[in-house]
Amino acid sequence: MANIKFFSGETTPIEMHRVRIIQKLNLLPIEDRHKAIQQAGNNTFLLKNDDVFLDMLTDSGTNAMSNDQQAAMLQADDSYAGSSTFYRLEKALQHVFGMEYFLPAHQGRACEHILSKFFIRKKGQVIPMNYHFTTAKAHITECGGQILEIPVKEAFDTTSTCQFKGNLDIDALKATIAQYGKEGIAFVRMEAGTNLIGGQPFSLQNLREVSAICRENGITLIQDVSLLSDNLYFCKQREEACKDMTIHEIAMAFAEASDILYFSGRKLGCARGGGICTNSKKHYLDLRVFIPLFEGFLTYGGMSVREMEAMAVGLFETLDEDVISQGPQFIEYMTGELVKLNIPVVTPPGGLGCHLNAREFLSHIKPEEYPAGSLASAMYLISGIRGMERGTLSEQRNEDGSEPIAQMELLRLALPRRVFTMSQIVYAVDRINWLFRNRHLVGGLKWIDEPPILRFFFGTLKPIGDWQQKLIAKFREDLGDSL
Ligand code: F0G
Repeated sequence: MANIKFFSGETTPIEMHRVRIIQKLNLLPIEDRHKAIQQAGNNTFLLKNDDVFLDMLTDSGTNAMSNDQQAAMLQADDSYAGSSTFYRLEKALQHVFGMEYFLPAHQGRACEHILSKFFIRKKGQVIPMNYHFTTAKAHITECGGQILEIPVKEAFDTTSTCQFKGNLDIDALKATIAQYGKEGIAFVRMEAGTNLIGGQPFSLQNLREVSAICRENGITLIQDVSLLSDNLYFCKQREEACKDMTIHEIAMAFAEASDILYFSGRKLGCARGGGICTNSKKHYLDLRVFIPLFEGFLTYGGMSVREMEAMAVGLFETLDEDVISQGPQFIEYMTGELVKLNIPVVTPPGGLGCHLNAREFLSHIKPEEYPAGSLASAMYLISGIRGMERGTLSEQRNEDGSEPIAQMELLRLALPRRVFTMSQIVYAVDRINWLFRNRHLVGGLKWIDEPPILRFFFGTLKPIGDWQQKLIAKFREDLGDSL
């Protein structure tokens, strides 16, 4: 990786790319932002992007592409069957993971749909995992399965020094197998760059231990590699055994430990799509039948061939440490600046984004009044920055109607790869700091309309009381006529 030292001793990360295509941004005055967030039902998913300044909702499909990716899109072969684009993507995946078979799917959740449908044979079967992702949980539950989260105990400690909070608890896995037996377990799921606990990695050693136990017991190990690039970077940086390995060798070792890999190509490969990889002909044939049924013909699987071309190049670029380090380094910088200001933020910094700990940031807001949802709404209001609630609102209401208080109450400020400049990060830190100093003004939210499934996507809420007006008045008092 590029080793660039500053004479001043600063540790500011430096972009190893330059900007060649831009999108003009718009920052509305706070009064207009208030109207926009009201119209969106205080749900940042429902904001229109024209009303957003820095879109930190997600890194899904929003990473910047390289010039080589864009160039590759022009050679796309849009034949329905036998497209040469498919074979180029298949070759890229075979190279990166050393896995022979590839099934294309339109995005990550399509893979989760197919895998859950095939592997969950009996209602109530459990799926042990380091942590769930929303869509994975929804598909598993829909197919009658039951997720069982058994991460190491540090996973939920927002200010831990543990470098691998995404690790699975090995003793808990053994106990689960003893309790449910092979028949009671549909598969084990390991998620790289564990999204909902703050983009936290697992170690290669932990993955290998999980793999050995699964193989001993004849249980399929499925790895979600959507956030692989961050996890690879952290293994290289933080794990002694990986220090002398290339990024490619670590990726191959991840694949070798797993029976099946699946991914969202909206994250991995910086394009839009997804797919399933395996070395087992049996798994390949068992799953193949679902592709033309749900996705599209076997040589495109619901993806645009142009995206597939970009993904193939993006996958090769994932093996370049200068490329994959940009995201985690910017996140580390932003997290470090917030820590200096005593703002509660998930540490150690992970991949994907900077995660504010809303439970502490807004400790005066009751869990049932959604601290992370309130923080997302307030953040947009005072800065035009759109983050994503990753807490209780993102959970599904319990069958008995009670509120499932999430283990962590986070506001995720995603940093899509190679998208934001350093001064935009400085702006974000400044506005978060202002909000933290004025946090006592922020109040909770209550439902206007609560959908039964994946409620966070379309649900609408309203503020409890007039806290948004108070926040606007204080903003004008402190920042005058600033946007
Ligand atoms: N697995 C992980 C770890 C993810 O982060 C995502 C998506 C998926 C699966 C589903 O993939 O969106 O292509 O269907 N995460 C996005 C996010 C939505 O914003 O974190 P998808």
